[in-house]
Amino acid sequence: MERIVLIGFMGVGKTTIGRRLAMRLSRDFYDTDSTVAKCEGMPVAEVVRKKGVKYFQGAEQFAVTTLMEKPNAVISTGGSTVLNDASRAALRDGSLIIWLQATADTIYRNTCHSRNRRPELQGKTAAEIGELLDQRLPYYQECDITVQVDGREIDDIVNELLQKIQRTLDAQ
Ligand code: S3P
Repeated sequence: MERIVLIGFMGVGKTTIGRRLAMRLSRDFYDTDSTVAKCEGMPVAEVVRKKGVKYFQGAEQFAVTTLMEKPNAVISTGGSTVLNDASRAALRDGSLIIWLQATADTIYRNTCHSRNRRPELQGKTAAEIGELLDQRLPYYQECDITVQVDGREIDDIVNELLQKIQRTLDAQ
C-alpha cells in the first residue's frame, strides 16, 4: 500500500490528524517538523529564527528524503514543504497526497495560541494569512485527495479520510 502524506497550511491539524489516521490504519507515523527538530536539536521555529529559512528548507528536504524510505508510513509535512520543488517531487513518488483544506479564518483561530512558535504567522491578521494561503494554493491543489477541516471533529475528518483513501485505492 502507498505511503500517505498530509499537506496543508499551518494550523489545519496535519500532525494530530496524521497521528490518528496512522493509528486507525496501524501504520507508523512521522512528521517532517519533528524529524528536523530531532536532527537540529531544537524546535523548527528556532531553526528558522537562528539559522534562517533557507537553512530550514535544506534540513526539511533532507528529512523528506529520509522519510521517503518508509514506504507504508503516514507522514505529516510542514506547511511550506510542498513549496520546495525537490521535496514536492520526492513526496509525490509513491505516495497518496492528502490536502487538509481550511479557510484563513479557521487557520487564524487555530493558530492564535501558537503564533509565537510560528514566526511566519507572527503579527499577521486573518486577511494576511488569507493572502499567504492564496499564494500557496497551487501547490496544495496538486493532491490526490482533499478534505475540508473547518469546524469539524478530528474523528469525523479521519473517518472521511479513511473512506476517501479506500475509494482512491480501489479505483487504482
Ligand atoms: C511552516 C510551517 C511549519 C514549519 C515551519 C514553516 C510554513 O509547520 O514547517 O515553521 O511556512 O508553513 P506546520 O505547518 O506544522 O505549522
